[in-house]
Amino acid sequence: MTPEIQVRPSGAITSEPVIYPGRNGKAITAILDHAPGGDPSRFVVMAPKYGETKKNNLQLAYHLALNGINVLRFDYTNHVGESEGDMHAFTLPGAVGDIQASFDYLEHRRGVSQAGLVASSLAARMGIRAASLDARVSYLIALVGVVHVQRTLHTVYQEDVIKNHLAGKTWGVNDVLGFEIDFENFLAAAVSSRLHTLAGTCADLARIRVPVAMLAAQNDAWVDLADVERVIKWAPFGQLHAIQDAMHEVRENPQAAERTFRQLVRQCVSWAHDREFAESELAVPDKKSYVAQNKIERERLRRADTNRQNEFDFWSRYLSKYEFMAEVDVYNYYIKLVGELLGVFRPGELVFDAGCGNGLFGVWAIRHLLEQTQPSPDPPVAYVGADLTHDGLLNALQKHARAAGGAPGPAGAPAMGLAYAQMDLDAFGRPGGADDEPAVDFADNTFDKICCSLLLSYLKQPDRLVEQLHRVLRPGGRLVVSSMKPFCDLSEIYRRYAARAPTEKEIDSARGLLAAAGKIKVREEQGIYTFFPAEELAAMMAAAGFTRIEAHTSFGNQANVVCGIK
Ligand SMILES: C[S@@+](CC[C@H](N)C(=O)[O-])C[C@H]1O[C@@H](n2cnc3c(N)ncnc32)[C@H](O)[C@@H]1O
Repeated sequence: MTPEIQVRPSGAITSEPVIYPGRNGKAITAILDHAPGGDPSRFVVMAPKYGETKKNNLQLAYHLALNGINVLRFDYTNHVGESEGDMHAFTLPGAVGDIQASFDYLEHRRGVSQAGLVASSLAARMGIRAASLDARVSYLIALVGVVHVQRTLHTVYQEDVIKNHLAGKTWGVNDVLGFEIDFENFLAAAVSSRLHTLAGTCADLARIRVPVAMLAAQNDAWVDLADVERVIKWAPFGQLHAIQDAMHEVRENPQAAERTFRQLVRQCVSWAHDREFAESELAVPDKKSYVAQNKIERERLRRADTNRQNEFDFWSRYLSKYEFMAEVDVYNYYIKLVGELLGVFRPGELVFDAGCGNGLFGVWAIRHLLEQTQPSPDPPVAYVGADLTHDGLLNALQKHARAAGGAPGPAGAPAMGLAYAQMDLDAFGRPGGADDEPAVDFADNTFDKICCSLLLSYLKQPDRLVEQLHRVLRPGGRLVVSSMKPFCDLSEIYRRYAARAPTEKEIDSARGLLAAAGKIKVREEQGIYTFFPAEELAAMMAAAGFTRIEAHTSFGNQANVVCGIK
């Protein structure tokens, strides 16, 4: 039975930026969330996940603030976000120091001698260490906590990097989930502080004299539930809650996230007040308030990001990592779904692949046509691929030529006509300019089918492109658009792929994709990219004039696919 939930306006919550010194001398930027009437002595410190910023803790922080717990959520030094330092120099003990510096701030500047600590993923390991050292931590809640750093790194890299580091292997600067860090320094610091082993985690937990709750996801690709079960026994006041139907990124499943948030808030409020709270006593903030604050923080993050890569460079680099997708089952099912939603390919039809990347949809279309059609005198289907990057298009062209491989069409012509255009699809519909600026456009009613796969998220004006695609589609033509789900989690797809043990080269490009996913995530936090729920894609299509709109999920349940007819 779902308990009564009180949804309360949280417009009154104040989110105040604060700056304080880290233990390494670098400045930490944090946000303090508090509701009027909240007890000024009740605080929780929230440590972000690796590769994330305080903004990702905003929604949870507003749940807590509305229930009377003030929140201090900070960005690590030497990390992404607004605090000082270079990501190059990031280490786990450094992050432990940042957590403790946040307790220093509460003690010296706010007169708060004890506070709770909430830490997710890798931050949980640092949280366990901080709680074992610092008596000011009054309780610890670890969400999808990494408890065996060596094993998690092994799963992510498909290589026991700690063992190889100890045996003398060097990497230099390495991309760790999308961020270039000094890997030797990172590994050496983890090992010398004993943050890497399961035994180290058990020893830390055994020293914690306050309550510890671990919320562990049932389907976590990075954290072995058996490890969590093993370590929690060492905490004198420890408890474990398994989150059903959840992956490492719990928000990937909104129902699981909602349940987890409620449980976490209830736990914090109960421990802060030293009595059990029923769910019906808790309030849930209305979405409007944290959406507005989200916007403010997105702007701050964007301003803080001084070394942002431009789109062209980003995609040119990323696409080379994307190659291995052709080997991933769930991606191939996804591309097949996109093709099938576009309907039967008839002779002479014109197909537009907007944001074609490496041309994987085109490869599917060519193979599909070759399977379907016999040599015939009919005109072939013609394909036009468009993308921002030259490298992507060149790669698509080569792949398509190989796939079409001299296949017979009318009088020996290929089964599919192929053409490519390098263009910025954010400018699609722009007529040629006075200064010889070329037009970025096609005529009205040109195409029979348009595939717009995993592109809209990366545009400045996605809704505008959908309108333009409606214009260039013939009446009765079909458009398929897609987006990764908000908070999508690619870890399981990666783990399954790596478990099939393909070659070292393929695993390497899969690691590259995880790295790119990390970068894309930060760009999403900054509001540069947006992953759309199916309803938003459908609304964009409806606003542009499409009818018979249908929505599907695909790509291992990580992407939304929506189709409509002009
Ligand atoms: C995630 S990839 C998807 C590639 C392909 N459609 C697929 O589904 O496999 C995103 C693609 O969008 C392209 N892209 C991003 N911004 C673009 C823009 N403004 N104009 C044209 N293409 C863009 C990138 O170059 C990249 O090829």
